[in-house]
Amino acid sequence: MSLAQQPVHIVLGEPSLDASHHDLFAALARLPALPSPDFSSAFNECVRAIERDFRAEEMLMEEFGLPMPPVHLEQHARMLAGLHHAAAALDDGDARPARYAVALLGDWLPVHIGTMDKALADAVCKVRADMQRARR
Ligand SMILES: [Fe+2]
Ligand SMILES: [Fe+2]
Repeated sequence: MSLAQQPVHIVLGEPSLDASHHDLFAALARLPALPSPDFSSAFNECVRAIERDFRAEEMLMEEFGLPMPPVHLEQHARMLAGLHHAAAALDDGDARPARYAVALLGDWLPVHIGTMDKALADAVCKVRADMQRARR
């Protein structure tokens, strides 16, 4: 999949998640063509953006009193572990794991967003609609 833009089929209809994912795809799209010195800082910024995205989702679950599905949290933890491993290798001068991680993210992110994040977005939208109905 091209990282040039967020695939239309994974726009979830939850503005904060969609904005975060849009920014992630934009950041990822720049990475493959960057030469080494620029790649390192852009990769590390991308990892921080992914950390923020995951944290924001976990805070949404908490804020809306939604169950935190272990499978969703586990996918976040596994991806972060891989990215931190790649970042450590990058610090040691080996860019191969980080460049491989960028390529994998192009496949992993749409699947994660289209399944785990979609379930979260649907649940958040339902709670918001219920709250609005209750206020009327
Ligand atoms: Fe996400
Ligand atoms: Fe997620």
